[in-house]
Amino acid sequence: MILDEVGRLLREEIGLHVASVGGAVVQYAVKTRMAACGFPEPLDYLQRLSSSRQEMQELINAVVIPETWFFRDREAFVAMVRHARAHRRPGAPLRMLSLPCSTGEEPYSLAMAMFDAGFAASDFTIDGVDISTRNIAAATRAVYGRNSFRGADIAFRSRHFEAVEGGHRPSAAVLDQVTFKAGNLFDPAVTPPVEAYDVIFCRNLLIYFDRELQQRSIGRLRQMLVPGGLLLVGPAESSLPTLHGFVSARTPLAFAFYKQDAAPPAEPRPGPSRPRRASPPAVARAGGVRAAASRPEAGPKPAARSAAPVEAPGAAELSLTAIQRAADAGRLDEAKREALAHLAAFGPSADAYYLLGLAHDASQAISEAIENYRKALYLSPDHRETLAHLALALERRGDGAGAKVLSDRLGRIADRSRSQ
Ligand SMILES: C[S@@+](CC[C@H](N)C(=O)[O-])C[C@H]1O[C@@H](n2cnc3c(N)ncnc32)[C@H](O)[C@@H]1O
Repeated sequence: MILDEVGRLLREEIGLHVASVGGAVVQYAVKTRMAACGFPEPLDYLQRLSSSRQEMQELINAVVIPETWFFRDREAFVAMVRHARAHRRPGAPLRMLSLPCSTGEEPYSLAMAMFDAGFAASDFTIDGVDISTRNIAAATRAVYGRNSFRGADIAFRSRHFEAVEGGHRPSAAVLDQVTFKAGNLFDPAVTPPVEAYDVIFCRNLLIYFDRELQQRSIGRLRQMLVPGGLLLVGPAESSLPTLHGFVSARTPLAFAFYKQDAAPPAEPRPGPSRPRRASPPAVARAGGVRAAASRPEAGPKPAARSAAPVEAPGAAELSLTAIQRAADAGRLDEAKREALAHLAAFGPSADAYYLLGLAHDASQAISEAIENYRKALYLSPDHRETLAHLALALERRGDGAGAKVLSDRLGRIADRSRSQ
């Protein structure tokens, strides 16, 4: 196959670290695009991909994981509103960015949270940016099905939505508050370069990058935030900001961080592997603080690294990350042991069974791999990585019909999340 080269191109284009989504997801996307282009030969497709921007965009659209829903991680929105109240400036709207915004649920949730907190339309602006043109089209269409409304509390729907054919659409007031743009986090032409935002939601994107690109991304987000601005990341990403010039906002389950008024050293300092404790930043946007930030970037002041607790990912997430790392590094016995220990400690979960299946798969224990993939799907029928890997495992075992059922299911899930 041509997967190594496609992986290299995807990393160059959007920062995607193929191992983070699983090779099978990329393989499935390539197969789908080859069929759509009418190229049975992988090399012909690779040639098209290397020479056509449009095909690269189509592949990106096919490969990204658009998973999102309204008020995902509710505490993040509570932390954002608290920050907005503390930094209200008469006559100057608070500027917020949702990047990646996927199909729009996150930026519209920001607007709803702000209205619910009593802010007026003129008090804030929201930009939504995502690399996938298909996701941006869905965000603009703004018709949402059941999958976008998860959890027990969906009272916001009756306040802010109207029922339309195919689902629910946010009210005109909410829609008007958000401006969408297709674009890449790494493209400086897409997002304003410096201190353009008071709040940035950058959640569930950094997990798809390798360490070097995670570091570059956080540097980029730092540039875009005003000093003392608020950055919100996803639960599995919450150990990153504190390594790169942010301090925890100390709001449990919000995964929220303030930008410090000076940049950290380029590399984390040697020392304990867990982030050190840090004190809250000087949160202000007066000229003095801006001026301080525009000094030549130096390491954080010693005093700024001393007091408050840092948010860390939960023990279960850390343990899953360790299993994934062991599997990625080819330490397959260790990955299996860790996965079994994880299941014993935290109970059954699709992610743990998927990783256990993956470790068996990589050590050519196909029956065990299939058994564990099936357990993962029992717990989470739409687990995309599992569907993709199980389809490939069945194909390798000669069960083409079984593999097709799963591939079709994967395709329907992808279509559904795009159209929602
Ligand atoms: C899992 S969604 C996260 C959506 C939302 N932030 C959330 O947490 O619910 C990940 C999104 O990242 C987008 N994405 C991937 N690489 C990107 C890049 N380099 N720049 C901008 N968006 C990117 C994908 O298109 C996808 O919609």
